[in-house]
Amino acid sequence: MKGIILAGGLGKRMQPLTRITNKHLLPVYNKPMIYYPLEILVEAGITEIMIVTGGNNAGDFLRLLGNGSEFGLKHINYTYQRGEGGIAEALGLCEHFADKDKVVVMLGDNLIEKSIKQYIDKFQKQDSGARILIKEVSDPERFGVVELKGDKVILIQEKPKSPKSQYAVTGIYMYDSRVFNIIKTLKPSQRGELEITDVNNDYLKNGDLYYDVLDGWWTDCGTFESLLHANNLVSKKERD
Ligand code: DAU
Repeated sequence: MKGIILAGGLGKRMQPLTRITNKHLLPVYNKPMIYYPLEILVEAGITEIMIVTGGNNAGDFLRLLGNGSEFGLKHINYTYQRGEGGIAEALGLCEHFADKDKVVVMLGDNLIEKSIKQYIDKFQKQDSGARILIKEVSDPERFGVVELKGDKVILIQEKPKSPKSQYAVTGIYMYDSRVFNIIKTLKPSQRGELEITDVNNDYLKNGDLYYDVLDGWWTDCGTFESLLHANNLVSKKERD
């Protein structure tokens, strides 16, 4: 299985912090944000990794991470997303890299407490389809939110005004090679992006979307509040 970290976008919600650098290079406690998803993938045994970057600071990722030797990697693949056409657009740039393999995708601004190895192992055993990780949160309207019937996901809504559950879809997704064909069928949403939620709903429609509830804490760093929260969570983890 191959790993993909999405660190494109222009970080408009984080101005002026992102005026002269990419959001994923901002510090979270004692490391740049991008270190965390990279460490998670490496710990889960993923050795072939692609980072999608964008904006004016793409070269800084190369200067910071190089060929990944600090993380025990032999090589890191990089690609460039122009503008911010959405998470699914960024993922679509990785078709040649995936080369028909299964992929595990992590949003570059998502931080988690524990290993994802157990979920990746389950996905390896899955014949086909997709697997998402969900987590109960107090502010589901900020995220993709699942609607559950019993223990079955029946719909995912992106940033709903009236969420159908407290379960957010985290930015960790596992897909078979069909994902790239699905992305080619997507139309931009109201916010002008190709939405990963539309990809997940396509798998759902075909009865091929599975999920686990993520163990341990999870946060994004997409707002000033959540970035501060991430700093505090990591600082506590480092001190425990
Ligand atoms: O954090 C989890 C949430 O991430 C999910 O619950 C939502 O369903 C999903 O849409 C996404 O929501 P956000 O609106 O918070 O995503 P955001 O635009 O902040 O992008 C998250 C990361 O994805 C960002 O740090 C880098 C990457 N990205 C984003 C865009 C828009 C790209 O690589 N390219 C892009 O064009």
